[in-house]
Amino acid sequence: MIGSADFLALQKLLQDRCGMQLTSDKLYLVASRLGPVALKLGLKSVIDLMTELRVRPRENLVTAVIEAMVTHESLFFRDLKPFEQMSRIVLPDMMRSRASAKKLRIWSAACSSGQEPYSIAMQIREDFSHHPGWRWEIVGTDISDPILARAGSGAFSTFETGRGLSPERLARHFLPIPGHGHRVTDAVRSMVSFQRHNLLEPAAHLGQFDIVFCRNVLIYFDAPTKARALDLIARQMAPDGVLFLGSADSIIGVTTRFAPHPQERGMFRLAPAAPMARTA
Ligand SMILES: C[S@@+](CC[C@H](N)C(=O)[O-])C[C@H]1O[C@@H](n2cnc3c(N)ncnc32)[C@H](O)[C@@H]1O
Repeated sequence: MIGSADFLALQKLLQDRCGMQLTSDKLYLVASRLGPVALKLGLKSVIDLMTELRVRPRENLVTAVIEAMVTHESLFFRDLKPFEQMSRIVLPDMMRSRASAKKLRIWSAACSSGQEPYSIAMQIREDFSHHPGWRWEIVGTDISDPILARAGSGAFSTFETGRGLSPERLARHFLPIPGHGHRVTDAVRSMVSFQRHNLLEPAAHLGQFDIVFCRNVLIYFDAPTKARALDLIARQMAPDGVLFLGSADSIIGVTTRFAPHPQERGMFRLAPAAPMARTA
């Protein structure tokens, strides 16, 4: 049984390094997720791993622990609606206002194994490939290197392609890998790039984005951490940019940086800047 000092140290590490809130009702997760890490690192138990983490927090140990504790759950076209809203409402407007530059940049922040950025690419190919000359840059970022390596391969198991993809989409955007699932076509793959990025750190190196998807990651953060991540995202958005949050991501009372779309759930725009206070 892991002691309270070790649990507190783990809570602090996860909060500081990736924003994750580990509440005491999640104690069961510690044993089930860190057991295999301890084994892999040649340690006798999770208790030994905790001690090592407190006494000698080597970077490879810390990274392995964070990797084991975060949740990478994702699926293609998750919730459907944001992809439909992007295509029906956001992109037609943005393509008019960017008709001379013919370039759009979309950020899938916390993209996990890539289902989200590839879904964005597929949606665009289906709805806008009759608009020649446009450059689409979809950037997927995540804190986890192993999950980004998987995303970058573009390969998915039969279980994964069975979640969220119609047979038509599978046939149109994927090629079978003999004996092991499917890989996205080069046409889809070439629209997406991947980079490691922690949402708690400035993102200026990623450049400016017209659309940001940041879904199903803020739920793991406390309110001040959500506010910080959202502020950093806001700084990377075009003035008329649109942010899509997940259906469980509430930002009410968390930030004034974004305003919800009056009719479209889950869609947000940058809020107008608050007027400067007058000094006498
Ligand atoms: C549940 S998945 C969500 C994937 C996708 N956005 C979706 O909605 O299907 C959450 C992802 O957030 C990543 N993550 C957790 N903390 C992060 C942080 N501080 N910065 C960047 N990514 C983070 C995890 O590695 C994980 O892949």
